[in-house]
Amino acid sequence: MKKFTYGTPFETDAVVERVERTEGDPSQFTVERTGDAFVFRRPLSARDRVYGLGEQVRGINKRGWLYDGWNTDDPRITEGRTALYGAHNFIVLTGEETFGVFFDSAGRVVFDVGYEDPDELKITAWNADVYVIEGGSAKEVVHTFRTLIGRSYIPPKWAFGYGQSKWGYKTEEDIRAVVEGYRANGFPLDAVYMDIDYMIHYKDFTVDPERYPDLSALSAELKAEGIYLVPIVDAAIKAEEGYPVYDEGLRNGYFCTDAAGVPYVVGVWPGDSVLPDVLAPEARAWFGAQYRALLDEGIEGFWNDMNEPALFYGKERLQKAIEAVAQTKGNLELDDFNKLTANFGKLANSPEDYRALCHNVNGKRVSHADVHNLYGYNMTRAAAEYFAEYAPDKRFLLFSRSSCIGMHRYGGIWTGDNCSWWSHLLLNVKMMPSLDMCGFLFAGADIGGHADNTTEELLLRWLAFGIFTPLMRNHATNGARDQECYRFKNKDAFRRILGMRYALLPYLYSEYIKCALRGEMLFKPLAFEYPEDARADGVEDQLFFGESLMIAPVCEQNAKGRYVYLPARMKMIRMRAGDDYKVKTLEKGSYYLEVPLDEVVFFLREGKVLPLARPAQNVASLDEEHLAFVKFIDSPVEYEICRDDGSTLSGIEKGLRKITVRP
Ligand code: NOJ
Repeated sequence: MKKFTYGTPFETDAVVERVERTEGDPSQFTVERTGDAFVFRRPLSARDRVYGLGEQVRGINKRGWLYDGWNTDDPRITEGRTALYGAHNFIVLTGEETFGVFFDSAGRVVFDVGYEDPDELKITAWNADVYVIEGGSAKEVVHTFRTLIGRSYIPPKWAFGYGQSKWGYKTEEDIRAVVEGYRANGFPLDAVYMDIDYMIHYKDFTVDPERYPDLSALSAELKAEGIYLVPIVDAAIKAEEGYPVYDEGLRNGYFCTDAAGVPYVVGVWPGDSVLPDVLAPEARAWFGAQYRALLDEGIEGFWNDMNEPALFYGKERLQKAIEAVAQTKGNLELDDFNKLTANFGKLANSPEDYRALCHNVNGKRVSHADVHNLYGYNMTRAAAEYFAEYAPDKRFLLFSRSSCIGMHRYGGIWTGDNCSWWSHLLLNVKMMPSLDMCGFLFAGADIGGHADNTTEELLLRWLAFGIFTPLMRNHATNGARDQECYRFKNKDAFRRILGMRYALLPYLYSEYIKCALRGEMLFKPLAFEYPEDARADGVEDQLFFGESLMIAPVCEQNAKGRYVYLPARMKMIRMRAGDDYKVKTLEKGSYYLEVPLDEVVFFLREGKVLPLARPAQNVASLDEEHLAFVKFIDSPVEYEICRDDGSTLSGIEKGLRKITVRP
C-alpha cells in the first residue's frame, strides 16, 4: 500500500493505520494539476472493470457514468443523478491490472469512469491523501482496504430483526396500532421507528408530552415484548431562545458560524435553525451528550437524518429572495417572474451557503465547503462516542443518512429517500456490494420504497430481498400509501416471508459478525468469486451472500420468475417458509426459475452449509439451540457461528464457535 498526498488534506480520521507518505505520483495514473485541482487519468482497456463508490446510482460495475463524491440531499433518486447522500471514494479496478484507490478527502472528489471518454478513468480531487492498494484479487484488495479503515460498526442483535417505520406516526396510539397490526397477524417485529413528529416542533431531544405522555413507560412495555422504539435525530437545532439545547450551544460557541463568528442560521424542519459544529471535538462531545435525554427514557437505537447537512434555505439568502418579491410592484414580465421563482428554487443546499458556513476546528475557521462530506460522519460519531461513555460495553443501534468512509466504524446507513419503484429495488441490490467494499456493512434501503405508492407485489418482492439485508426496515414518507405489511391482502405470504428473515438470522448474524471482524464483504458480485468466468462478469442482479449462499432476487413487475446464472454447481433452496423448503441440485449454467410471489429462491454453494432457526416473532425469542442445517457436503465441515450475548462489545469474539456439521 502506498500513500500520496495532494494539497493540504483536512484530517478525516477515515483510516486507522499509519502509512508513510510516498513521494511522486502513483504509477497507475498520470497526474496533472489544474488550478487547485489534481486530475488523475488512466486509460481503461476493454477488460477493465471499476467497482466501489458505495452509495451511488447505477451498476455494480461503475463504468460508463460520472460520480460525484459530494453528500447530497435530493429526494428524487434517478439515474441522471451523480451524487447521493454518502461520499465513499474507494474503487477497485480489475482487468489488465488489479488495484484499489481511496481518495481520503473531506471535500469533493469526482469520478469520471468512462463518461467523457469511454476509455478513460479520470478522477478529480482537491486536497486529498490518496491510498493505492496493489496486488492480489479484487477481494484481497478490498480486504486490505478494510483493514486500513478499521472495523465496521456492529449493532446489537435485535437490530437485525424486522422494523416498521413511516413518516406519519404521530402519537403513542399510532405506535401501538402498528404493534397491534403486526401481532394480530402473527407477523414478526423487532422495532418501530419514530419519525420527526414525536418531537415538540421538531426540536431534537424533546418529546411531545401530549403525543407521548410517558415515553419511558411505553419503551419499557414494548421492550418487554421484544420491540424497540427507534427515534430519529436531525442535524439542525431550532434557533429558539428558551430551548435549552439552543441556549447552551449558543453560550458555548458550539454552532457553525459565518466568517465573522456569528451563528449561521439555516432552515430545516423546525424553521430557523443552527448546525452543531460536530467537527470541533468539544462541540461534538456536547452534541453527543444530548442523546442522553432519550437514552434515559430507555431508548437504545437512533437514526440520524438531514446530516449532509440538508438546508432548505440559508436565512440571509431567503431574506434577499423575499425582499426581491416585496420590491416587485404591479405586473411582472415573465423574465422577472422566472428570476423570482429561481431565487427560491436555488435556496436549498446552496453552494453559497456551504461556502459561507464555517466550522471552528482547533481555533481555526474552516469553510464548510472544504469539509462538507464529514458532517454526517461526525454527527454520528458524536452519538457513538457518547454511547461509549454512557454505557461502555453496550451496543446501540445507530445509523445515518449521510456518511463518508470513517463513519462505518461508528454506525450504519440507510440509503435515503428512494421511491416505490422496481428500479429502486434493483438499485438496492446493486448498491449492497459497493457499500460493503467501503465498510458500510450495516445498511439497507427503505423497503417498499419511501416516496410514491407501493403495491403488494413490489413490497413482497422487496421483502424477499430485504430478508438478506442487515438493516431490514420498511419505511415510507408521509402522504405515501400505508405500507405496513398488514395493510395488504395476502397476509399469509407476508407472514411466511417475514418469518424467513428469522429463520436465516443465525446465518445472517454470524456472517455479519465475521465479515465485520475480518474486513470481508457480506455481499459480493459474482465476478469477485469467479474472476475467470466470463459469464459471471457482468451479472449485476445476483450476489453472493456470506460464505454459503448466492441470491437472485426478482426485481420486475408481474415476473413469474427469472433467469439465473450458476457459476458452479449449487443446491437450489426453494423456500416457502422458514421451516418449509425444498432443495434441488443444479449444475453450472443458466436456468429460468419460477419464483412465485410468496416464495424465495436462493442457492447453497458446494461444500457449504446453512444453519436455519425456526421462524420467530422477534430476535429475543429465536431458538438457536435447535438449528437445522441445509447441507451441500459429502464430508464433515465446520461452520463458525456467532452465539454471543447480542448486546455487548466484549462478548462478540467470545461468541464465535465452530460447529461440526456432518453430511
Ligand atoms: C428525510 C428522511 O430521509 C426520511 O426518511 C424521513 O422520513 C424524513 N426526512 C422526515 O424526517
